[in-house]
Amino acid sequence: LLDWYDGHARVLPWRAPPGAAVDPYRVWLSEIMLQQTTVQVVKAYFEKFVHLWPTVEALAAAPLDDVLKAWAGLGYYARARNLHACAGAVVGRFGGRFPETEAELRTLPGIGPYTAAAIAAIAFDFPIVPLDGNIERVTARVFAIEDPLPGSKPLLRDKAQAFAGKDRPGCVAQALMDLGATVCTPKNPACA
Ligand code: ADE
Repeated sequence: LLDWYDGHARVLPWRAPPGAAVDPYRVWLSEIMLQQTTVQVVKAYFEKFVHLWPTVEALAAAPLDDVLKAWAGLGYYARARNLHACAGAVVGRFGGRFPETEAELRTLPGIGPYTAAAIAAIAFDFPIVPLDGNIERVTARVFAIEDPLPGSKPLLRDKAQAFAGKDRPGCVAQALMDLGATVCTPKNPACA
């Protein structure tokens, strides 16, 4: 999976180029934007936000109205309000550094179980697999789980953890996402 990812990872603006350090601010921002919106739509918004506010400090210092205006079109203003509140909390409670554990991440506005797991894995290489729709489908197929959602969720979550290991957990999580989005697609998967 990692060999495939190294050759086929989607180029996305929140990903660090090979060898460069991952910026937790960019990972967090992308995960909040991706909660209910597609990767294609999020790209342009992400670029706009990091151009206007390159750091969590800058975003925290921005007037809420400016953030809401920049968010327009992404839907659900509550998420934009939480985004701004979260930036304020990271600066106010954590000195501008995102906390690294799922438990601490979950104390922040707008960060639920999925987003906490995604940030812990992608930004801090914590060995956990965040269960998004793509990873659910890949896991169901790998382990031939035929029970429907949502009942099968606990089993899927349990099985998905088998993919997590010491080796580059953040890349494993994103490789599963990319595999689900580009190869192991809902319809007509490219099995060959
Ligand atoms: N969906 C949510 N987070 C993602 C990421 N980091 N890469 C690709 N798709 C995603």
